[in-house]
Amino acid sequence: MSRLVIVSNRLPIGRPSGAGGELEIPAGGLVSAVLSALQRRPGSLWLGWDSKAEPKPDRLTQHQASGVLLLGLGLSRAELDGYYRGFCNETLWPLLHCFQGRVHLDVNHAAFYRRVQTRFARALHSILRAGDLVWVHDYHLLLLGRELRQLGWKGKIGFFLHTPFPPYDLWRILPNPADFLRGLGDYNLVGFHTASYRDNYLYSCKRELKASWNGSELRTTTGRQRVGVYPVGIEPRDFQPEHTGRRKQHRYLSRIVGSDVQVVLGVDRLDYTKGIPERIRAFESLIRRWPQWRGKVCLVQIASPSRTTLHQYEEQKRLVDRLVGRVNGELADPDWVPIRYLYRSFSRSGLIRFYSAAHVGLVTPLRDGMNLVAKEFVAGQYPEDPGVLVLSRFAGAAEELSDAIQVNPYLPDDTAEGIARALEMPLEERCKRHQALFAEVSRATASEWARRFTADLANA
Ligand code: ADP
Ligand code: F6P
Repeated sequence: MSRLVIVSNRLPIGRPSGAGGELEIPAGGLVSAVLSALQRRPGSLWLGWDSKAEPKPDRLTQHQASGVLLLGLGLSRAELDGYYRGFCNETLWPLLHCFQGRVHLDVNHAAFYRRVQTRFARALHSILRAGDLVWVHDYHLLLLGRELRQLGWKGKIGFFLHTPFPPYDLWRILPNPADFLRGLGDYNLVGFHTASYRDNYLYSCKRELKASWNGSELRTTTGRQRVGVYPVGIEPRDFQPEHTGRRKQHRYLSRIVGSDVQVVLGVDRLDYTKGIPERIRAFESLIRRWPQWRGKVCLVQIASPSRTTLHQYEEQKRLVDRLVGRVNGELADPDWVPIRYLYRSFSRSGLIRFYSAAHVGLVTPLRDGMNLVAKEFVAGQYPEDPGVLVLSRFAGAAEELSDAIQVNPYLPDDTAEGIARALEMPLEERCKRHQALFAEVSRATASEWARRFTADLANA
């Protein structure tokens, strides 16, 4: 089997959790999925940015994560500002998630983006051996394939996008939309979570590059490329709760929320795509419209700090802080607080305790490439007494998880109705829906995702 070389901006370099011992890996779908998949593929390498490394051109740091060798590249402050904060997170992230009004264009950021692609390509080229399969991840490295080809690499290179790919009219907001598509053309295989993201990409290529598509291959004047749909997953076994039963797990949560209080759970990075303010308004609407839930239900919202140096993320945090304060101030009773808000990360075992004790998983992004939290919540349930998933129709996961209660997160009342239905759902229906969801989550796992992608790449 060929050696697999993963490249992404983010590396799974953990830090000790508050509980001691177990490492907290950085929150984010990419790290969770790739790390889970690689546990079944020993001997792989993973190159990425190491925040602790010095930005020296030829020196890569070395770490280990679950048997995978991590090679870390240092980036200078200016590179991080222009490439990561600027072009990746102020231009591409909002554009790919269809937040057109938040897109910020800056030629200087674009120049840093290209420069960092070259730095990644040189580092990668220095470690590659003939026969390696190179698998590049996410929007941070759209043009790495092209840079690597320019250094003479003739082997296979694949690219997977962890975010949505937007409709053509949004893609065209980029200053040079055709050039990015031409750059992506240097990958032998490009993969997306869903058929609609793939179709958006194909349509942009048709319009900008006059490309043609025969159902599996994209042809342009300069070459051929395979394009496919590979929905990312989790390893369900890794999220299954201890065999102590939900009642016992709930005791753990009831210390926080009070006994006999049902828990509605949100777990996200604190990002404006996740719809946290809209979710809080939906929960407020639930309590105001159906006051019988006062004192009987609590929203536990865990939000992991993310991209905290960016203005839009600081602003989002201030908005969430303000909303939680207002709703709790207006609705709380002396012995009941409607929202428990935890602005922090948890280790995996910490998250599992929340998933397994919650009655409702509230996963309501305004837009999301896939959303692994939805799948983790499903895997974290006790099959004999499962909680109910309420899922945004704008998460990639909604295409697979049709047995969740699907809601429109832009309409707080619609989400509130979804929560009310979930809270009142009889055991029989909960079990039936959970069985179907669990079967789906167990079918499209992280290792299956990686197996299918790398097999197609090897044959591309
Ligand atoms: P995204 O990639 O946009 O962050 P996903 O839902 O696909 O969204 O993936 C998020 C990943 O990060 C999941 O694996 C989840 O367990 C993890 N995560 C999210 N919030 C936290 C948190 N507060 N603490 C620890 N891990 C978190
Ligand atoms: O899964 C989407 C994603 O953007 C990953 O690409 C990224 O690693 C993660 O979310 C978290 O973002 P960041 O790496 O900027 O902390």
